[in-house]
Amino acid sequence: MITRRTVVMAAAAVAVLGAGVLALGSGGGDARAADMEVWKSPSCGCCGGWIDHMKAEGFSVIVHDLDDVTPVKDRLGVEPELASCHTAVIDGYVIEGHVPASDVRRLLAERPKATGLTIPGMPQSAPGMDMPGEPYEVLLFSPGGTSLFSRHAG
Ligand code: CU
Ligand code: CU
Repeated sequence: MITRRTVVMAAAAVAVLGAGVLALGSGGGDARAADMEVWKSPSCGCCGGWIDHMKAEGFSVIVHDLDDVTPVKDRLGVEPELASCHTAVIDGYVIEGHVPASDVRRLLAERPKATGLTIPGMPQSAPGMDMPGEPYEVLLFSPGGTSLFSRHAG
């Protein structure tokens, strides 16, 4: 039943949502407030594993299944030697491959001038692969080149 009180409460909820959108617009770097879009092949199992990892870490994810993700990588500036399986975009940054949520959070907090983060290939220890034992590195990349962003023991 819709009462006058319900309407007042709904209006209050909209006001709170509005405040949330304003906070997002000011660039607070709150990963949970932003949707991440992911492009992957429908047959990619480890991609699903990584998406589960990101969701478990509080990110909301929109998934696009594509038979060939290469055109998306090309459009977003992911060079072939930097490529992995899936490609994601969050808050203006490209996330290529099995990058841990902790690195994505740090990227959004520090906001370096770059295209995004990548783990080229698919190290077996990375989130979504989850077979410990292989150390791996996350690279910050831009059209000018790459630099080391973080190192994980695996
Ligand atoms: Cu993969
Ligand atoms: Cu993948």
